[in-house]
Amino acid sequence: MTNESTVPPESGTATLHSFSRNAVGVRAGTTAADSTHAYGVEAKRVDCDWARNTQLTDGVEELFAAHRRRNESQPSRYWYPLSRPTYGVEEVVEALDSLCSFRTSMGEKTRMFERQFAAFQRCSDSVMVNSGSSADLLLCFLLTNPLRPLLQPGDEILVPVVTWPTQLWSAMMAGLKVRLVDVDPATLNVDLDDLESEITPATRAIFVVHLMGNPCRMDRVLELARQHNLIVIEDCCEALGAEWDGVPVGNFGLGGSFSFFFSHHITTMEGGMITCPDAETADQLRILRAHGWLRNVDPATFRLADDELDPRYAFINWGFNVRPTEVQAGFGLHQLEKLPAFNRRRDILAGRFFDFVDHLPCFTRPVVHPLARPSWLALPVLVRPDAPFSRREITTFLEQNGVETRPIVAGNLAKQPAAKLFGLDGGNFPGADEIHWQGFYVGLSPMQDDQGFDRLLDLIHGFVHSKTARRAIAA
Ligand SMILES: Cc1ncc(COP(=O)(O)O)c(C=O)c1O
Repeated sequence: MTNESTVPPESGTATLHSFSRNAVGVRAGTTAADSTHAYGVEAKRVDCDWARNTQLTDGVEELFAAHRRRNESQPSRYWYPLSRPTYGVEEVVEALDSLCSFRTSMGEKTRMFERQFAAFQRCSDSVMVNSGSSADLLLCFLLTNPLRPLLQPGDEILVPVVTWPTQLWSAMMAGLKVRLVDVDPATLNVDLDDLESEITPATRAIFVVHLMGNPCRMDRVLELARQHNLIVIEDCCEALGAEWDGVPVGNFGLGGSFSFFFSHHITTMEGGMITCPDAETADQLRILRAHGWLRNVDPATFRLADDELDPRYAFINWGFNVRPTEVQAGFGLHQLEKLPAFNRRRDILAGRFFDFVDHLPCFTRPVVHPLARPSWLALPVLVRPDAPFSRREITTFLEQNGVETRPIVAGNLAKQPAAKLFGLDGGNFPGADEIHWQGFYVGLSPMQDDQGFDRLLDLIHGFVHSKTARRAIAA
């Protein structure tokens, strides 16, 4: 991979340098310096001066080129994979800067990334962790937090049955009783009628997920929460950049979780973030993030009774260690600058794909509410039951022809072996079943060029056409 690999191939002629300018400019015509203001952040970041050191950058580029040559000599099974690398020289040099300064443990780059992420998200603060799953975990432990309990162990939380499993596990590990809610196959998000009907006197919270980057109807979720006095938390791990009614997802409740796994909207290799509505929530999360100690919050906020206690080793709660490293945060600083360009490219490709699918009567694709602005993570479709082929037939065909496919997240989670272990199997989830049996997705990478994308559409078109023709002849 070269520098150029960080260029979303929007215009076939972009170079690293033009990309840097394009990517940083949040709005057309802004410069790198302006973008700092666009995000409302005062100081940009510890500028990676090393990125201007040509000896260093040439060396890193050489290494990327060597690996690219090696990869090309061992072709991958897929010419259209689920994801492609989005980082390049800048991230690697920033990582080297942390490694060579021995400042690898969570520190100033992490804090800077948190501030810039909060500015991008238009929220009070954000707290970085080592994965999206850890973000879900802390959000749930925030609910049953011994230091500031909002809920009691055993209280019920409603969670959609189609999501990434750690969303469920997090709630369960925090001592909450999970009630699974069906999912609407039209939107891939929580079925709002089922959500309402699952509310019992023991229900205290709703944990929504904006699946595949398609925002939930937050007006109805918030109305239900208000009527029944429920806390709302949001899993936004697949939805960075999505908005509901002009507000970024992650801002509608007590907090929102984000994932920076390799294939997500931005990557820190592994990593995650929690958006917070106020400083107090952020402090509580920082205590839970690291051991239950006071060290990463303002000690004045939490007075210690014992004057003898060394404040650096004062533990005021229980906690985990799910801290990120400075290497991850350094990646995040660069990736966040590139996010607007990444999402523009994702948007263009998703628009083309869904337009294409709309002309094929054998698929349905997620419906987007007029108030929602999605930020697609991937390209999901459902094969209609009356299509002249099955889901298995088309995914087998695509896989055999070099296109990687996968289920929509993990299908109906109540069907997973682990659900049985926790008594979450069974239940009647017709919407989730439809997604489970009829749904699949292909990748959506901002690095995807038009040529490869045309090839994907041609391949699907050819398959559908041949199956439709065969059925017509048989009839
Ligand atoms: C909806 C959802 N929640 C949580 C996660 C967990 O994120 P991570 O893989 O960073 O732990 C994912 C990961 O893909 C996800 O899709």
